[in-house]
Amino acid sequence: MITLTAVTKLYNEGRPNEVQALRGIDLTIARNAVTVLKGPSGSGKTTLLSLIACMARPTSGRVHLDGELVSGLPEKFLTELRRTTFGFVFQRFNLIRGLSVLENVMLPAAPLGLEHAAVRARALEHLDALDLGPRADSPVEYLSGGEAQRATIARALINDPPILIADEPTANLDTALTERFLEIVAAERAAGRTVVITSHDPRIWGAEGVDAVVELRDGAITGEFA
Ligand SMILES: Nc1ncnc2c1ncn2[C@@H]1O[C@H](COP(=O)(O)OP(=O)(O)O)[C@@H](O)[C@H]1O
Ligand SMILES: [Mg+2]
Repeated sequence: MITLTAVTKLYNEGRPNEVQALRGIDLTIARNAVTVLKGPSGSGKTTLLSLIACMARPTSGRVHLDGELVSGLPEKFLTELRRTTFGFVFQRFNLIRGLSVLENVMLPAAPLGLEHAAVRARALEHLDALDLGPRADSPVEYLSGGEAQRATIARALINDPPILIADEPTANLDTALTERFLEIVAAERAAGRTVVITSHDPRIWGAEGVDAVVELRDGAITGEFA
């Protein structure tokens, strides 16, 4: 469970271009549930997601992960925590060009120093499960949009993280691929994972498998729906 208490986030603090991206957020993200952060562009979704995922620190307020205060931890602990706790599906996929699909999927496991063959086998399992087995050796630049997204999901799952994080995952996907994404999310939730997604796509926040919707506007929560 992730709890945010009185969280604020300022960018460019004290400068003329200061932005208050989040104002006084109190929020609990339930374990083994699918939570969607929705709101218009600029409402603070990505900022909130980055605090939930320990990618950034709040300007003020506290973030607890399973009862532990993480907002004050030094960077080296946060790096380790991110690696073991979160899998990330970024908006622009962030696949590394010039590497194969399989190499991309294996990448987040590299710092753990595990046996290469075991990681490779696990990566191939994830790729097979997402119908990307035949694409394992393709350079990522040859993938279609839907394939690239599934490759990103396989990469996010390689270290078996309890929490899956996705920022606007369906922004560039058609309806069939959006439904496919939702099926994958449902399967991961059924496997015990917690999923947190930002989206202003009604196909996502209105979907059946979503347990909680948090509505943001101008950096504040304006509604929570279950
Ligand atoms: N790195 C940054 N530096 C300065 N301002 C930022 C930065 N990231 C986001 N912002 C601003 O913070 C506000 C919230 O942005 P963001 O969290 O990206 O919202 P959303 O994901 O809902 O579009 C916006 O006004 C945006 O311009
Ligand atoms: Mg965003």
